[in-house]
Amino acid sequence: MNLAELNKVAEAMVAPGRGILAADESSGTIKKRFDSIGVESTADSRRDYRELLFRSTEAMSKCISGVILYDETIRQNAKDGTPLVKLIEKAGSLPGIKVDKGTKPLPFCPGELITEGLDGLRERLVEYRGLGAKFAKWRAVIDIARPESGPPIPTYTAIMTNAHALARYAALCQDEGIVPIVEPEVLMDGDHDADRCYTVTELLLKIVFEQLYFQKVALEGMVLKPNMVISGKKAKQRAGVEEVAEKTVKLLKACVPAAVPGIAFLSGGQSDEEATAHLDAMNRIGNLPWKLTFSYGRALQAAPQKAWSGKSENVAAAQRAFTHRAMMNSLAAKGQWKQDLEKKAA
Ligand code: 13P
Repeated sequence: MNLAELNKVAEAMVAPGRGILAADESSGTIKKRFDSIGVESTADSRRDYRELLFRSTEAMSKCISGVILYDETIRQNAKDGTPLVKLIEKAGSLPGIKVDKGTKPLPFCPGELITEGLDGLRERLVEYRGLGAKFAKWRAVIDIARPESGPPIPTYTAIMTNAHALARYAALCQDEGIVPIVEPEVLMDGDHDADRCYTVTELLLKIVFEQLYFQKVALEGMVLKPNMVISGKKAKQRAGVEEVAEKTVKLLKACVPAAVPGIAFLSGGQSDEEATAHLDAMNRIGNLPWKLTFSYGRALQAAPQKAWSGKSENVAAAQRAFTHRAMMNSLAAKGQWKQDLEKKAA
């Protein structure tokens, strides 16, 4: 393992004012997103849409440090034949790849999931490295919504098993010269309050870092992608921006060693502006041992998807929408976002 090289890539992924575009929706997920804007999901429509994002030069070169791709996308060419990976590199951004194979039901744990994809992972990493991937992503999903029947969740089994898989994945990545994004996600589904999210996320992160240690993962050569400490979507009274920021920073300080170069949050179903405001408020707290930035999927793409709606005449409008969100999140990554800037653009 060349730790200096891994560390250089990890630092670049969280460089000041820059963050990650999660464009790694599986074919099933992108179909759902396209269904909502009335666009048929085909290899060409997926290519056209992602190409417009990667050709948003200002956003890509100023705000986006890296792009997480899906297996199909890392192999795809733009309409003019240029590999999409080359478009990303040309814009000064790093290509990355989702390598988990999605979730399956976890035996004897009703309602809980385990992320699969370790078998053959080393060989896939070698191939992806050849295709230009500098970093990878693996997402573990922990649901904490109260089940209608059956035992409460999450179970220790689900937390432990998913943390172990994350650490096995991260070690394999580093051994193959690829920076792992370690993504343990506590879902926002449910009516729980922010304190319940705090308690579960704390346990999850403690166990994830224990497992990373046991698998000999070098913390200097990884990026953590956690959820924020946030109320469930159906909570009656949702925690405000300051509370989310304070609780998330408190939790991360207690759980994430300073050797980790950066933390890039998922948006997890927050609205665009909420995700930006939370990131900004955390960075305003300041005095943090790691960089705090974004690795958003929905919170960066909902606006451009809507503006595009599958029509070539809307490409410029979609690029403007993407650039605006990227700029807002870039400011938030520096603690310099202002809500007025959102109003002016509206
Ligand atoms: P969201 O920001 O839409 O949660 O997606 C980020 C991601 O990569 C989930 O794995």
